[in-house]
Amino acid sequence: MSKIRLDKLLSNTGFGSRKEVKSIIRAGRLRIGDEIIYDPGYIVDIDSSDVYVDNERISYRKYYYLMMNKPAGVISATFDPDSRTVLDLVPSTYRHVSLFPVGRLDKDTEGLLLLTNDGQLAHRLLSPKRHVPKTYYARIEGIVDHEDIDTFRAGIELEPGFTTLQARLEILGLSEDTGISEVSVTIYEGKYHQVKRMFKAVGKRVLYLKRISMGGLQLDESLPAGAVRELSQAELDILMND
Ligand code: URA
Repeated sequence: MSKIRLDKLLSNTGFGSRKEVKSIIRAGRLRIGDEIIYDPGYIVDIDSSDVYVDNERISYRKYYYLMMNKPAGVISATFDPDSRTVLDLVPSTYRHVSLFPVGRLDKDTEGLLLLTNDGQLAHRLLSPKRHVPKTYYARIEGIVDHEDIDTFRAGIELEPGFTTLQARLEILGLSEDTGISEVSVTIYEGKYHQVKRMFKAVGKRVLYLKRISMGGLQLDESLPAGAVRELSQAELDILMND
C-alpha cells in the first residue's frame, strides 16, 4: 500500500508547487472516484484509488529513468556555482523529480548519461565491486598501436596503489597524415579522468571523448546532443539485469 497526501501526490506528478496544487484541490478540481475532495492534506492510497484532476487520471510514478546525450560544456552534477549542469537541460516536465546523474562525465565529455531518482539502481551501477563496463569512442592525438592495446589489457598503474582493471582498446581508424587515431575503449571502473589518464600513461592525449554505452545500455544515436528521453521498458529491463 502506498499512502500519500493529495498535495504531495500532485506536486510529485508535475501539477506545480505545493501552493499551486493546494489551490487546484481547494477549487474542487480533484476527485477520487466520484467524490470531490477539497482537503489538500487528505491521505490517499494510490494503489487502490482512482484519482483525477479535471477528469485526467493521475498515475503516480516513483522512479524516473532518463537517457541524456550529454553535450560538451555542461557539468554532470545537480548544482554548480559557475557552470550549467546537466539538470539545466532536463525539460521542465521533470522539474518536480529529484533527478541526479549516475556517475560523472567530464565537462568536455559527451554522450550517454543516465539520470534517475532511483538511488538503488545508481548505487548498483556505480558499485566498484560490480565492474559495469563503460565504452567510449575517442579521438587520440598520436598513433595508437598494438603495444597500447596490450598495455591497456594488462592494466595501467595510474597512481601508487591503483592499477586499472584490464581495459579493452580497439583501433577504429588511424591517420598517419594528421597523427590522429580513432578508438573504442572499454573500462570496468570509473576513476576520475580515467580514460584521459590511461592515454596519458602511454604518452598520448585524448582530443575528444564520448560515452557510447554503460552496461547493456547503448546511447541512442538519434538523440541530439543535449536532448533527453525516457528509457524504454526494454532498456530498463537490461539495466535492471546488469
Ligand atoms: N574518462 C575520462 O577521462 N573522462 C570521462 O569523462 C569519462 C571517462
